[in-house]
Amino acid sequence: MTMTDNYECIAVAVVDGVATVTLNRPQKRNAMSPQLNHEMRDALGEIRYDNDIGVVVLTGAGDAFTAGMDLKEYFRDTEGDPVAFERVRDIAWEWQYNILRKMPQVTIAKVNGWCFGGGFTPLTSCDLAISADEATFGLSEVNWGIIPAGLVTRDVALAMGYRNSLYYILTGEPFDGKRAVETGLVNESVPHDELDARVDALAAHLKGLNPAVLRTAKETYRHSLDMDYAQAWDYTAAKALQLRSRDKEGGRRQGMTQFLDEKTFKPGLGAYARGTEADA
Ligand code: COA
Repeated sequence: MTMTDNYECIAVAVVDGVATVTLNRPQKRNAMSPQLNHEMRDALGEIRYDNDIGVVVLTGAGDAFTAGMDLKEYFRDTEGDPVAFERVRDIAWEWQYNILRKMPQVTIAKVNGWCFGGGFTPLTSCDLAISADEATFGLSEVNWGIIPAGLVTRDVALAMGYRNSLYYILTGEPFDGKRAVETGLVNESVPHDELDARVDALAAHLKGLNPAVLRTAKETYRHSLDMDYAQAWDYTAAKALQLRSRDKEGGRRQGMTQFLDEKTFKPGLGAYARGTEADA
């Protein structure tokens, strides 16, 4: 099934349970304008509650993933009007951080080209990231006189570590997809003409896994980061119990039965065959 919505700055297509959301202002290198941010908030706000969608891919039209926040419409047009700035900033924050990071579906950033500045927030808010070798990344803020905004600094520190984060924050130097892999910013990079196929294959693999397990695993990862060890231990135990009521296909029981009794699969090497039996 394919679905296209009437957005001006983004495009949404759903095929076989995978939603591809495309930042779609190629003439502006997909810079994130207030309107684009509104549309993203609306689109992701719908997709997050759609049970038929298991994976969300975020990418950009043309030769850019995104050139970051729109220097004209986001920064210059709100200069001297703090309330107007707060309004556009909060909508950007809402989709790039609150909604995208908490999507129940697995999210993949498909970095097809330029990715600068504020573009690092949606990039790091996605669970996984695959880029083209030829993509160009840059914490370019220093180049035009600002510091990385929002949670870019905190997020790159987590993804790229101490030395790499400070190096790129302070130099503003651009780097390619292969370097992005070395720093930990993305999972993998492939030649641009193989990017669609690689992301399709990853999405298909994830679509085949138990969605309740994936959702609970990513929530546990994200929330435990802000806890101390004792809290994280207890929270994880509670999430494991929550999963048992969430998982209507009883994956845990199916997995044990197929391994221990039926001897039809090896959990170390792949996933159990998903059936439709009621909750364990
Ligand atoms: N905000 C607003 N407009 C932007 C933009 C941004 N972040 N990035 C690109 N554009 C606009 C340009 O102003 C230009 O508009 P115009 O055609 O009306 O003049 C158009 O997009 C094409 O940009 P151009 O610079 O001509 O494209 P390019 O392919 O030669 O270069 C980039 C691409 C991404 C290297 C370059 O546009 C750039 O450096 N953009 C800013 C990146 C950045 O530092 N973003 C951080 C923001 S926090």
